[in-house]
Amino acid sequence: MRRGGRRPQLERAVAISDLRDLAHKRLPRVCFDFVEGGAEDEITVAANRRAFERLPLRPRHLVDVDDRDQSTVVCGTPVKSPVLLAPAGLQRIVSRNAELDAARAAGEAGTVYCVPTSASFPLDEIAAVATGPLWFQLYLWRSREVYEGLVQRAAELNYRALVVTVDTPVSSKRERDMRNGFTVPLRLSLKDRIEALRHPRWIWDYVTGPPITFANLAGVAGSDKIEALADLVNRELTNPAATFADLERLRELWSGPLLVKGTLTAEDARRATACGIDGIVVSNHGGRQLDGAPASIDVLEEVVAAADEHVEVLLDGGVRRGSDVVKAIALGAKAVLIGRPYLWGLAAGDQAGVERVLEILRQEIDVCLTLIGRRSLSELDPSLVRREL
Ligand SMILES: Cc1cc2nc3c(=O)[nH]c(=O)nc-3n(C[C@H](O)[C@H](O)[C@H](O)COP(=O)(O)O)c2cc1C
Repeated sequence: MRRGGRRPQLERAVAISDLRDLAHKRLPRVCFDFVEGGAEDEITVAANRRAFERLPLRPRHLVDVDDRDQSTVVCGTPVKSPVLLAPAGLQRIVSRNAELDAARAAGEAGTVYCVPTSASFPLDEIAAVATGPLWFQLYLWRSREVYEGLVQRAAELNYRALVVTVDTPVSSKRERDMRNGFTVPLRLSLKDRIEALRHPRWIWDYVTGPPITFANLAGVAGSDKIEALADLVNRELTNPAATFADLERLRELWSGPLLVKGTLTAEDARRATACGIDGIVVSNHGGRQLDGAPASIDVLEEVVAAADEHVEVLLDGGVRRGSDVVKAIALGAKAVLIGRPYLWGLAAGDQAGVERVLEILRQEIDVCLTLIGRRSLSELDPSLVRREL
């Protein structure tokens, strides 16, 4: 872990919530809300947290746990800790080097970075700086040529797994963004510009850094103008006509590990399994799509029970503590992904900020394993979690 020169505020951050506070200070309101917000009343955003908080652990004592290890292998990729970086589009909104720094930080921490289609840097530039394994996230776009081209590119660049997000057949109503007038390209109102003056570092990065754009779609849109790219994303990215037949076609196209992200029911887990997938990410998109969707941790066991044994089940949504990670793995997840926490890390301190987020979680997982009397992730099982009566 790179410590030399790390900013003192990052060293002082002892919990993920401290990184969130730093991000709050660093980002103009429009950008902070873009990350923080969810769909409509944000009921699912809150449910993700509440569900973890309501799950007590059942610690076992007087077990020799002197020698602990939290490494694992997730869909063929070895990781030092079971916390992966979830795909999150347009990270340039919160920091200058965005996906490049996230990739470097994941490599430093020995974990996976799942690069989103809507990254602000091109897939090859991210691959060039990455020091660890990369996965690639894809939406089932309207045009097959678009997604087939992206998949081919990811394969050529050695992205190790493909993650297909299925919970976005339409863009949801994110009311914070609507009220704030958030758009891509970013158009700051006079009021926002005045507010942004309180965040000089962000302004400096915004003005002097690379443009905020969908860098991987320039070839597809036939233009690298942000207006053309944003139009393409709005027109093509969401696809209410996508079906499991598209997933089957992707299976033929992609020979590496294939994961589906967004599954919340046993029925969908069975259908996806039948398409020959290797993994499922139980996810409600961090409460950013269907408001009223269940908390991810509440449906994890249902999905695990329905998926074939060879299908690895991951989870994201509301993971903020090492004990959340331990609970998810005890209930059947192979690993978890985090979204907002590492975006807060990026905003708070670029690569070093993301490293700090991963370090805090790794330390908390270690303490939690010790306190519940388990040496490794393979020793976790559902008896360690008390379900509500
Ligand atoms: C700002 C932001 C952008 C996101 N963009 C994407 C995306 O492009 N593709 C995707 O599959 N999920 C996206 N997600 C969802 C994350 O992958 C993940 O499911 C979610 O953030 C997990 O919840 P958490 O933020 O509570 O950790 C995004 C999330 C955030 C916060």
